[in-house]
Amino acid sequence: MDVLTVKDLSVSFYRESGEIEAVKHVSFSLRPGEILVIMGDTGCGKSVLCKSIVKLLPDIAKIKTGQILFQGKEITGYSEKEMQKLRGASFSMIFQNPMTALNPCMSVGAQIAEAVRLRSPELSRRERWDRVIELLELVGIDRAKERAGQYPFHFSGGMAQRCVIAIALAADPAVLFADEPTTSLDEGMQEQILALLLELREKLGMAVILITHNPKVAARVADRAALMRDGELYRIGDTEEIFEEIIYNNY
Ligand SMILES: Nc1ncnc2c1ncn2[C@@H]1O[C@H](COP(=O)(O)OP(=O)(O)OP(=O)(O)O)[C@@H](O)[C@H]1O
Ligand SMILES: [Mg+2]
Repeated sequence: MDVLTVKDLSVSFYRESGEIEAVKHVSFSLRPGEILVIMGDTGCGKSVLCKSIVKLLPDIAKIKTGQILFQGKEITGYSEKEMQKLRGASFSMIFQNPMTALNPCMSVGAQIAEAVRLRSPELSRRERWDRVIELLELVGIDRAKERAGQYPFHFSGGMAQRCVIAIALAADPAVLFADEPTTSLDEGMQEQILALLLELREKLGMAVILITHNPKVAARVADRAALMRDGELYRIGDTEEIFEEIIYNNY
C-alpha cells in the first residue's frame, strides 16, 4: 500500500488583495521507502504542497479541493490535535536552515530528548538519553556522548543539519519531508547529508519527499522525480525522463 496518497489537492491563500492559488489539483502517491524529489521554479508551490500535507500552513491558507491519505486512511479533515500526533510519530520535517530549526539556548541532546519524549513518553530518563546517543550516532556524529551536551553554536552547518535530522528521526517517521535540506551548506556538506539520507532510507525504510533546486542532488538520490510549475504538478515519473524534460525545456 502507498504510504501517502494525494488526490486533486488545491490550496489557496486568501489575502485582502484576493486569492492566491498556490497549489492546483495536485495528485501523486508515495511508496514506502521511496525517495521522491520535487523540483520547480521558485514560488511554484513546492513548500506549500508539503506544508499542506503536514498541515503547517498559516490560517489564511485553505485546502480547497482534494484528499490526503496516509497509509490508506484519509487525514484531510484531521484536527490540529490529530495532526500533532501524526507529526510526532509518522511525519517528520526538515527545512533549509538548520540553525533556525534548533533552539540556540538548549543543548542539542536536550532537544533530541524532547522529541524522543514526545514519541515515547514511557521511556525512563536513562532510556531516553540512550536513545539520544543512538540517534546522534545514527546521523554520523562522532563522540556522541560529549556532543550531546553541546549547544548549536558549537556545531558547523552540516553538523547542525545532522542534529536536525536526528530530531526528525526521533519520531521514527514513515515519511520525511525535507525542504531544501542542503541548500545552506557547502558542496562537500551537501554530499554528506545526501549520503546520510540514502543510508537512513536503507536502514529505516522511511519514504522521503525531497525538495531541491539542485538537479545534481536530485539525480543522485531520486527514485522518482516530479516537476512543479505554477502550482501544478506538471510532470512526475522516472528521474531520467524528468531530467531530459528539464534540460530540453531549459527549466
Ligand atoms: N504566507 C503566504 N501568503 C500568501 N501567499 C503565499 C504565502 N506563502 C506562500 N505563498 C504563495 O504560494 C506560492 C507558492 O509558494 P512556495 O513557498 O510553495 O514556493 P516554492 O516552490 O517552495 O518556492 P522556493 O523554491 O522559493 O522555496 C507563491 O506564489 C507564494 O506567493
Ligand atoms: Mg520553498
